[in-house]
Amino acid sequence: ELDLNNKLPLKGKTILVTAGPTYEAIDPVRFIGNHSSGKMGFDIANSAANLGAQVVLISGPSHCKVVNSSIQLVEVITAQEMYEACHKFYPDVDVAIAAAAVADYKPKNVALQKIKKAADSFVIELEKTKDILASLGDQKKNQYLIGFALETENEIENAKFKIKKKNLDLIVLNSLQDDGAGFGKSTNKVTFIDKDFNIEPMELKSKEAVAHDILNKIIAHFNILDR
Ligand code: CTP
Ligand code: CA
Repeated sequence: ELDLNNKLPLKGKTILVTAGPTYEAIDPVRFIGNHSSGKMGFDIANSAANLGAQVVLISGPSHCKVVNSSIQLVEVITAQEMYEACHKFYPDVDVAIAAAAVADYKPKNVALQKIKKAADSFVIELEKTKDILASLGDQKKNQYLIGFALETENEIENAKFKIKKKNLDLIVLNSLQDDGAGFGKSTNKVTFIDKDFNIEPMELKSKEAVAHDILNKIIAHFNILDR
């Protein structure tokens, strides 16, 4: 039988997505950042909205644009701002997907004035940022929680460790082995690992196609729940 609702399988669901890099200030004119474009997170947000979901997209500095009016874009700069925005929305969402490349460390002290060039060498002391995804895992109620993992060695083992440590339902392991994959590229080579450690390697494909694969995992999760 024809079920017209199937065209919008995520209707009634709210999905939080983090995207992009974070910028951690050194002084008023400088920061520590990374090469994340935000594209993966924006593609996920757009796909989710096209499938009927309400989306809250919390993004660090990015040139990507939202197209769908079902997406609420919350723009942040720092890891701390992203953390606060995530926790504001998290209690009310059905799914959270952490696609942001959050800085792991930030300068311990931010200079109030532009730092002048003086000595031949210069050290900036860094301290850890909050692990946003781990904190969402800690406070998880019924949310389906998805993280990413970027690894360059012992990929599967490290990704499994992150699933446990951050209390995830699914992790998207990003392989940089392939030349066409990852930061600043339009393609990704990913492997899905779920909380039962089922491993599903995917082909190298566009980030839009990876976004569709992730949304299909979410739809499958809700179909099992609703059965
Ligand atoms: N993440 C986060 N907050 C942080 C750091 C990471 O929410 N402060 C999230 C990322 O969005 C990603 C996941 O945690 O979904 C894994 O990020 P990754 O950099 O691969 O792992 P880390 O836990 O930061 O460990 P490491 O960088 O040492 O591998
Ligand atoms: Ca990290």
